[in-house]
Parts: sequence; structure tokens; C-alpha cells
Amino acid sequence: MKAKDKWKRGLPYVGNKGQKVEQIMEALPNGKRFIDVFGGGGCVSLTAISSGKYEEAIYNDQKKTVVELLKALINDEPHLNLMDYVALTREQFIDWRDNQPDSIERTLVLIAYSFSNNQKGYLWSRKNEEEKLLLTRALFYGNTGTEFDQLYNYSLNANTISEKYRLFHKWRREQMNINSRYDLLQQLERLQQLQRLQQLQRLQQLQQLQQLERLQRLQYSVNDYRELVIDTDDVVYCDPPYVGTQHDYGGFDHKAFENWYLHECPAKEIYISEYTKLPHTEVAFNFGKKLSLTATGKRRDELLLRVVH
Ligand SMILES: C[S@@+](CC[C@H](N)C(=O)[O-])C[C@H]1O[C@@H](n2cnc3c(N)ncnc32)[C@H](O)[C@@H]1O
Repeated sequence: MKAKDKWKRGLPYVGNKGQKVEQIMEALPNGKRFIDVFGGGGCVSLTAISSGKYEEAIYNDQKKTVVELLKALINDEPHLNLMDYVALTREQFIDWRDNQPDSIERTLVLIAYSFSNNQKGYLWSRKNEEEKLLLTRALFYGNTGTEFDQLYNYSLNANTISEKYRLFHKWRREQMNINSRYDLLQQLERLQQLQRLQQLQRLQQLQQLQQLERLQRLQYSVNDYRELVIDTDDVVYCDPPYVGTQHDYGGFDHKAFENWYLHECPAKEIYISEYTKLPHTEVAFNFGKKLSLTATGKRRDELLLRVVH
């Protein structure tokens, strides 16, 4: 994916469609309005508005603060200073997770700092968290009293997270050639929180990139899927919590979902991403194998299903 298109990946959120999304979009029919029922990180909605296939896209998720975070980033309102979140400790993460009420900011912290994006565990192991934080502090603030402080001057002119991160890699490569602490630097290859924050910053920068007209086609909605008001000619896309995966989002009722797509949702075109074929659907596209999230470790096909009545 070209750097200038990376904003379409949306929030680095659990279940992010990432690489598959372009293929999904190609397989979906054109229409007036696109409805992303279980929007999550938003990448399907963002790809839909930039595809030119729809006049409008509704990005919906029942999780209010996730929808609000995407909206805040894209509209830059309220402005979030992402540089304030570059080096959070385990203790700060746990405090946000356990003691703070749900909010845009808390969601941002959980997305940027949770291990495998599960919003539960802290990103790094105890083994290297200290060094990763030190390195990040040196990069952004200097004054750590360590050899890493060179990074601060080295990247002084960089004013985005992406640019800082790029210079960190450049510095690291240079140092590995001359520095005796080769092993340590080799281990400190990725600062995952910066990768995620740079993805959030891309969304903040969209307004400047003349994407305004496209972004105006995006509507935000916080609803349970059963509450959505849908027309017969809408193109409906569903990426629900998958059957039989550990990410059950507090228990998703798959029977109720089946009843909804068969009997309640009036749209003629309803598509569902799943690993197993569901009742009254046909396979519109097969993306091939993906390592399953279930304990068995089986590989299963990732499917795009179309509802047939
Ligand atoms: C598999 S994720 C979607 C991932 C998304 N396609 C992406 O690329 O980021 C499923 C989403 O469904 C949402 N969800 C779960 N139950 C829901 C419900 N009853 N109504 C609406 N959204 C729901 C969850 O909050 C979660 O964000």
C-alpha cells in the first residue's frame, strides 16, 4: 500500500481488515449509500468513500468512544495532541485501563498501548519496556542522561511522529555499524506505539491533504446494528465479531444476527465477512487461508458472503 493511501486503514483496532479491504471493496456492488454496520477501526468505510462507488457511507459501531475517536481525528475537533502520548509507562496504561472512565482519550491510549490490540495487556514485556520508553523519551524530549540523547538533536527538525520514527530508524542503522551495543539496538527495532500513533496522525492530516470532499461523504453513527435505519437500495456490509473466536466482544448473539439479516434488514444487498459459511448465504469472494484465532490453530478460509433470500 502506498504511503499516501495508508490513512484508509483507519484506527489500528482489533479485527482491522487491513490488507483485505481493497479486495472487499472490489467485490461489493456500487450503490448510493454504503452502510458499514460493525465499523470498528473504520477502514472499510474509509475505503468506501475513497473508492468513488458510493455517494455516502455510514460508519457505525456500538462502541461510542471508538466512533468518537475516529471522528475527532478526522475533524481535528477536539484536537488531540498525539505527541503527548508517545511514552506511557505500564503504570499509566493500567491507570487508564482500570481507573479512568471510558473516553476518547482512554480509547486512544488502549489502542496505542495494548498488546496485540486487545485493549487488555500492556504492549511491551517487562524485559524491554524500560529501554523502549527510554529510547522514545530520548527521541521526543531528550534529557534522559543516556547515550540515546543524541537522537533528540538528530531528529530536532522532525515535527510529525512519522518523521521522528523514520529518523529513529536511520539513526539506529547508523549506530549499529559503529556501536558496541549492537545487540541491544537490534532488539529495539520497533517502537510499536509510534507505529500506531503515526497511523492516528495520518487521519489528523487528512484535512490538509485535500480529502475534504470525500470526507464529507462519511457519516458517523453509534448504534446497535438492530437500531440502524436501512433502505432497500443500501449496500450493507457486516464484519461482526466472528463465530467461535476469542474476540467475542462480551458475547455476540449470532442467532439474533442471523435473524436480523434474514428477516429484519430490508436491504437487497447484504454482505458479511466470516470464516465459515452462514445459513442463507453464498460465497461472493474467498480470500484464502488465514491463521485461525481459535485454540486449534487451524487455518480457515476468510470469506465474503452474500445473503440470498
Ligand atoms: C470484527 S470488528 C470490525 C472490524 C472492522 N471491519 C475493521 O476493519 O476495523 C467488530 C466490531 O463490531 C462492534 N460490535 C459488536 N457488537 C455490535 C452491535 N451489537 N452493534 C454494532 N456494533 C457492534 C464491535 O465494537 C467491533 O468494533
